[in-house]
Amino acid sequence: RIPVWLDCDVGHDDALAVILAGHHSKLKLLGISSVSGNAPIERTTANAMRVLEVAGIQGVKVYQGASKPLVKPVYHATNIHGESGLDGTKLLLDPDFARYFAADMNAVNGMRAAIMESEEPVSVVAVGPLTNIALLVSVYPEVVPRIRSLSIMGGAIGLGNTTSAAEFNVFCDPEAAQIVLNSGIDHIALVPLEVTHTVLSTEAIIKRIEGEVVSPKFAQLVAELLHYFGSTYLDVFGAKDGAPLHDPVAVAYLIIPEAFSKRRIRVDVDCSDGPARGRTHCDVWAQEGVETNCWLTTEVDVGKFWGEMIGTMVVASKL
Ligand code: BDR
Ligand code: CA
Repeated sequence: RIPVWLDCDVGHDDALAVILAGHHSKLKLLGISSVSGNAPIERTTANAMRVLEVAGIQGVKVYQGASKPLVKPVYHATNIHGESGLDGTKLLLDPDFARYFAADMNAVNGMRAAIMESEEPVSVVAVGPLTNIALLVSVYPEVVPRIRSLSIMGGAIGLGNTTSAAEFNVFCDPEAAQIVLNSGIDHIALVPLEVTHTVLSTEAIIKRIEGEVVSPKFAQLVAELLHYFGSTYLDVFGAKDGAPLHDPVAVAYLIIPEAFSKRRIRVDVDCSDGPARGRTHCDVWAQEGVETNCWLTTEVDVGKFWGEMIGTMVVASKL
């Protein structure tokens, strides 16, 4: 199994990324770090633990990370994920937090320990603002050669979703994203909006989940989360076919790499104070004569993705 660390700001799509990383048979989830993003840090930390509990993921701790971006003031996606970060269901109860909370270490030290102590190189998946990862590579650069890959849900080649220039995770902490993209990590894969917007949680998909997932309560929880997410996407973006399930796609990059098309390019983040702040500048056609720094994913096999995502929920709901 591939050792994996998941860095996230648990909102609706992050919750499904936790389930995929925690239950897929090809992955061994070493730990989760929380970051301020969709909701304040106390909420994203608690949400990660609530999801671990409801999904029956054992032996995984949550390491609390950055409460604010490196430079920018905090910004949250309340319009998309609600005040709690995970609005829309009453089925997520607060667990005995002491069972899940890594009280002895913060996110940066937790990641460092997991990466340095693992026999095999660790794959990191980052699906929130990149503050924790930027701190990790800055404070402990010795981790860089020990990271097998870093898959990031973030950025867009074109239109953003938070400003017309910037995608949410990069918009929240552009300086962190720029540090991470240029950190020298060997294999960075960027999963931008153009890819995640093809993975829609449509009504047909929600029906399939309700039909296949064994535990009715688990199926209801997932359906409630996806319905809420779909309703905010309809309000904010007029999206009629359901919300894009962004974050699990970056986890799936480890499970079904062959299902992705990608090209090696240079991406830099606009860290200026103008309207383009947080834009990922993608040198798609290699026209700028600069060294490449990441793999930009351009397409995913949507059927294969749902096969893995729903299959994993089926297994999780049997436990
Ligand atoms: C990203 O923003 C967040 O709201 C989602 O969880 C996802 O990580 C999409 O832009
Ligand atoms: Ca996220």
